[in-house]
Amino acid sequence: MAWSPEKTEVKSWNEWDTLRHAIVGRADDCHIPPEEPALDAKVPEDSDMRGQWGRRPQETIDRANELLDNFADQLRKRGVRVDRPVSIDHSQPVTTPDFHTDSQFGCMPPRDVLLTVGHEMLEATMSYRCRWFEYLNYRPLLKQYWEEDPNFRHEAAPKPRLTDADYHPDYLSEKIGDAKRLEWAAEKFFVTTEEEPLFDAADVLRFGKDLVVQHGFTTNLKGIEWLRRHFPDHRVHTVNFPGDPYPIHIDATFTPLRPGLIVNNPQRRLPEEQREMFHKNGWEIVDAAQPAHNTPPPLCYSSTWLSMNVLVLDPKTVCVEKSEVYQAEQMDKLGMEVVEVELRDAYAFGGGLHCCTADVYRDGECEDYFP
Ligand code: ARG
Repeated sequence: MAWSPEKTEVKSWNEWDTLRHAIVGRADDCHIPPEEPALDAKVPEDSDMRGQWGRRPQETIDRANELLDNFADQLRKRGVRVDRPVSIDHSQPVTTPDFHTDSQFGCMPPRDVLLTVGHEMLEATMSYRCRWFEYLNYRPLLKQYWEEDPNFRHEAAPKPRLTDADYHPDYLSEKIGDAKRLEWAAEKFFVTTEEEPLFDAADVLRFGKDLVVQHGFTTNLKGIEWLRRHFPDHRVHTVNFPGDPYPIHIDATFTPLRPGLIVNNPQRRLPEEQREMFHKNGWEIVDAAQPAHNTPPPLCYSSTWLSMNVLVLDPKTVCVEKSEVYQAEQMDKLGMEVVEVELRDAYAFGGGLHCCTADVYRDGECEDYFP
């Protein structure tokens, strides 16, 4: 049955079929969280964010919200139904019997927390203490979908304990240096241990029957095993990108555009032995264009490679950040129609166009692209 805006239905099997319904995050009340093991390992060593925490400056929140609102309107004008989360109070601490941290993170970006697979939306375990309650920002929406769509499966992965046993102390030193980090990444020695299953939703890419999951800082092997058991009808593949000294979230590293075509970060190439399933099935993996910027914007966790954090609207159309001219040019050459979206001033809130959205509905069914 064709999708209708009057009827709520949750369904999305991949990253590229025609997008009909999405969640766009909000910058409301976003915080720079206090130090904690997993976050410390991720904040770049030369970052302006080291050693400070608290609510983000109001003018940056307002500016990011302006851009996110405009993006939501742009999507609506193209016929996409857009929902927005309801921010909780992120200044509240997180205290469980196992840990305490003085503030939370924000309701950006939704892609990190919510994984849509078919008719299911799964709240990820997360691996930062400050993000333990982040799913609450989306609960009003998930509650609504559950009430309106009788086939919707609302699931939550087991909440992790996040004691110190979850983190390798080696990563807690102030200065590690990129050389050491790259050596560790090649050995798959990441900040998270194998104490318990951990994953962030943004480490997962959906290719119909196949899920491709990045093993790195935010997702451990037990987290991937948990996903495998949770989705018994899928094939779950573990990938890693040894060129990334801060490996979190796959969507500025490996970006499928349509069946048969993926762009890959040239500094974080997928190792040869992990390419087999793609090559055997005639998929092409091309190097992404260079980012247009030499540095990320102020108070930003991510790298300049948010350039390739694009949102595919359908197999011929892609949203690219407005200033990312090289990425837009490459998309054009690859036969995609480019929709420019201004978002750079919201990057600091956790990511780009793919990050700041979550799928609710895309056309299409669960296909086997790698038979
Ligand atoms: N680790 C990526 C980079 O800095 C950023 C990924 C952001 N993605 C997300 N879903 N928050 O290159």
